[in-house]
Amino acid sequence: MAILLAGGAGFIGSHAAVEFLNAGYDVIIADNFSNSDSGVIDRIKTITGIDAICHAVNVASYSELDKVFSQYEISDVVHFAGYKAVGESVQKPLLYYRNNLDTTLTLLEVMSKYGVKRIVFSSSATVYGTPIKIPLTENDPVGSCTNPYGKTKYFIEQILTDAADADPNMSVVLLRYFNPIGAHESGIIGELANNIPNNLMPYITQTAAGIHEKLNIYGNDYPTSDGTGVRDYIHVMDLAKGHVAAVKYLDVHTGTEVFNLGTGTGYSVLEIVDAFEKVTGIHIPYKIMPRRPGDIAECYACIEKAERVLGWKSEKSIDDMCRDAWRWQQHYDGTEKHAR
Ligand code: WQD
Repeated sequence: MAILLAGGAGFIGSHAAVEFLNAGYDVIIADNFSNSDSGVIDRIKTITGIDAICHAVNVASYSELDKVFSQYEISDVVHFAGYKAVGESVQKPLLYYRNNLDTTLTLLEVMSKYGVKRIVFSSSATVYGTPIKIPLTENDPVGSCTNPYGKTKYFIEQILTDAADADPNMSVVLLRYFNPIGAHESGIIGELANNIPNNLMPYITQTAAGIHEKLNIYGNDYPTSDGTGVRDYIHVMDLAKGHVAAVKYLDVHTGTEVFNLGTGTGYSVLEIVDAFEKVTGIHIPYKIMPRRPGDIAECYACIEKAERVLGWKSEKSIDDMCRDAWRWQQHYDGTEKHAR
């Protein structure tokens, strides 16, 4: 039996592929490389010593996806196939609704044709919108998303829940990621930073690499320990392991289950900058700027349920996240001779 990683060449998908291969799964990646680079497939083999089969297909295309399903006995699907830039989604909402919903609906239709009943979905804490209380639990209200990207994640959660309600043999797990950062310790896979990154860590590593003169810190007047935004940063390899635990859970579960994947600890922007400087020895110049529209002050996860039900919890530290993110930046921009 094989496991299909839809969008498996991307940042989270490629790290999950490493963990699934290491766990002994046969891995099939379906990806059109619209937000990833095809070279990652060879680098996954370099890390694991195992071939991940990859099909360059548009997951939203029924005919292309049908051709992949017809070649293998697929037992489970992990759905990473979606665009994920918050800012871009505000500029191009139709692109995000068309792509992120089409990949989902096509996956479900082809899965139904081949009798595949188990799916893990790459959701996001962004479905919680502005938290009423923290830490956030899986029972907290969702849907008050502040951007089209977050709304696609919320809509897809609803689509998958309805699909499972209509088929008692279906098993759906929704994984709500908090802030994934870092990279595999080899430094040869990581987050592609097309154009200027929106997210904090890629911006820090690019500043450390001299690509940017300074880091802009959006707001230091939030009601937090030092006034800067607080988030629950989780190492992408811990997140990847969470997907293996989720697929194992699909075997013993039907219906829909939601899990927060975070560390349960929040760090402020200044605390991340401080940790990065300590780990790498590199000074990160910054400038305090006005708050970024749509940002929330503080957000971190209650992680009790994933530990109790999946037997999973994060293990890596903020220092690990900073160290591994920096090593990937150096590999990515070819300065790895300084890798620590
Ligand atoms: C983190 C903190 C910023 C950049 C988003 C998505 C979420 C998920 C993760 C996909 C905030 C501050 C940032 C910068 C800064 N994506 N910041 N200067 O907004 O919490 O979450 O990415 O799943 O769904 O919403 O992450 O890294 O953009 O911001 O000061 O150059 O860093 O204000 O406090 P965010 P982020």
